[in-house]
Amino acid sequence: MCGIVGYLGNLNPKDVIISGLKKLEYRGYDSAGLAILHNGETKLIRALGKLKSLEEKITSEQFNGHIGIGHTRWATHGVPSERNAHPHKVRGISLVHNGIIENYLDIKEELVKQGAKINSDTDSELVAHLIANEVEITKDLKKAVENILDKLKGAFSIVVMWEKNPNELIAFKDGPPLVVGLGKSENFVASDVQALISYTNQFIYLNDREVVQLSQEKVRLFSSQGVAIERKPIVLNWSPELVEKQGFSHFMLKEIYEQPRAVAMAMEPHILNHRVVLKNVGFHEKDLHHLDQIDPLKDWETTQKEFSKIERIFIIACGTSFYAGQIGKYLIENLSQIPVETDIASEFRYRQPIIPKNSLVLTISQSGETADTLAAIRLAKEKGALTLSLCNVKNSSIDREAHGHLYMNAGPEIGVASTKAFTTTLVVLNLLAITFGKVKKLISEEQELTLVQELLSIPSKMEVVLSYDKYFQTAAENLKKFKGFLFMGRGVSYPIAMEGALKLKELAYLHAEGYAAGEMKHGPLALIDERMAIVMIVPHDANFEKTVSNLEEAKARGGQIITLGSGENERLKSISLTYLPVPKAEWNLNPILYVVPMQLMAFHLACILGYDVDQPRNLAKSVTVE
Ligand code: M6R
Repeated sequence: MCGIVGYLGNLNPKDVIISGLKKLEYRGYDSAGLAILHNGETKLIRALGKLKSLEEKITSEQFNGHIGIGHTRWATHGVPSERNAHPHKVRGISLVHNGIIENYLDIKEELVKQGAKINSDTDSELVAHLIANEVEITKDLKKAVENILDKLKGAFSIVVMWEKNPNELIAFKDGPPLVVGLGKSENFVASDVQALISYTNQFIYLNDREVVQLSQEKVRLFSSQGVAIERKPIVLNWSPELVEKQGFSHFMLKEIYEQPRAVAMAMEPHILNHRVVLKNVGFHEKDLHHLDQIDPLKDWETTQKEFSKIERIFIIACGTSFYAGQIGKYLIENLSQIPVETDIASEFRYRQPIIPKNSLVLTISQSGETADTLAAIRLAKEKGALTLSLCNVKNSSIDREAHGHLYMNAGPEIGVASTKAFTTTLVVLNLLAITFGKVKKLISEEQELTLVQELLSIPSKMEVVLSYDKYFQTAAENLKKFKGFLFMGRGVSYPIAMEGALKLKELAYLHAEGYAAGEMKHGPLALIDERMAIVMIVPHDANFEKTVSNLEEAKARGGQIITLGSGENERLKSISLTYLPVPKAEWNLNPILYVVPMQLMAFHLACILGYDVDQPRNLAKSVTVE
């Protein structure tokens, strides 16, 4: 999705904007641009393609001034091109925009009737026209922005600059995230803190329908009706290095290798003396800034009280987070006997879901900004459900909306393909399942101890999986000859099969499907021939024998089998073209280990094929439009 950076201060705005936009590249984009104001004139430069093209265009340019805005565009209205790239400039107003203006056709018709000259195919330029018209009347940029807001329908964030006021940026958020960064005699606004973390650690997150007025010295926050709002900044302790590659060739590879530490960090706050004690879930704590300060024991009592009332759980998410949620269903149902429904957020929000009394709606989102998941949590609240969010980004929109809060604690995930956010989510889902099991009195203290011990052994088992990387690389080499891929598994390995297929699709652009192995006879068997690779996930769990039968069936039809199994297994080896061993673990933890070879094989295959691993084509990290 689009990335926005705005700056006012004594540094060269061009440098701040380009460095910020680079940090936002992970979001996905197809063109970029910047506008810098100096001596009442705007220098506007835009380019199709990656930031490198924009940088090449500006190397010969001289930039002065203290204020500017920049943008990376992910096309929604109008093809990726220089004329559709942002900023859009209309009579002294420069604007960058993220999101969608749903009623843009009506606005366009009206503007054309009034004689406006429209230069792009975007909905964004139309907003610049509306503001340019309005500012001629109000002579005040903030008022002009406020006055046009009611004309716009959709989900959008904008940052605007005006030639007649070289010490002011106005930003508005209703949907896609915007955060203000505070400095000394300088201020920033961006789509994500990652763009600004090397300049400041003090941030104010904007809520929906808030306007912010930035000058070099001051930041003032208002409701869209112009009422002043007081909000204390939060201080983030992220070091800038966390958003660098640190010697790895790709962010994705770095993030795959960070997983042992990330999963340890995910469980650390919630394990006390080998017991699961969920820390500071903060049900009903309105101000997220206070989460770290609440009394953990009181909070744990509240959490258990709330959980004891729960009779049904809905897990809602998109993409990889959804597959994690499907594993959560197996875990929670097995350990606590509470029925769990899983739903893709874009389906849930439009299917008029029936949510009985005493339901918990758990949303999972790495970014915390996915538009459909955000809408789902709002709907769940409207229907009276208790909501709990599991996010990686603290203070993200979904985190702010939920009644209770859990975190993946994975650190920034930059690669578009999700890796460590997935495995850390599985850790938290295990903790949640154990908690429900305890609350429902289905897990004894002894069982809890064993479950926790197993969980604590996972980081070192992941290290072992990572040490086999050279085998996954060789396996990836062999995969390039196949025309298609079927990933299969049973039980908790079924969502892992779907996640493995998704990784291959998004990184290597190959057709891959994830299937429940038991479904093979009901259709997919027809696909199998020697050009079809079958990736079978066969851990030594209760489904082992049944999955091996499926494997034999596929082999008998000429399928080329790549098997992942627990430890050395001669039987699996003899049936498979390639056999990849994974350390033995309990059934509930196998997904955390088995997904790692999937991530690495997809990564290596994409590299072999020469694709952009960190930013696969057409994809965005943070899907803030539906
Ligand atoms: O930020 P979220 O977890 O809500 O994102 C959901 C999906 O967009 C995301 O998992 C997507 O499927 C990834 N590209 C998968 O690698």
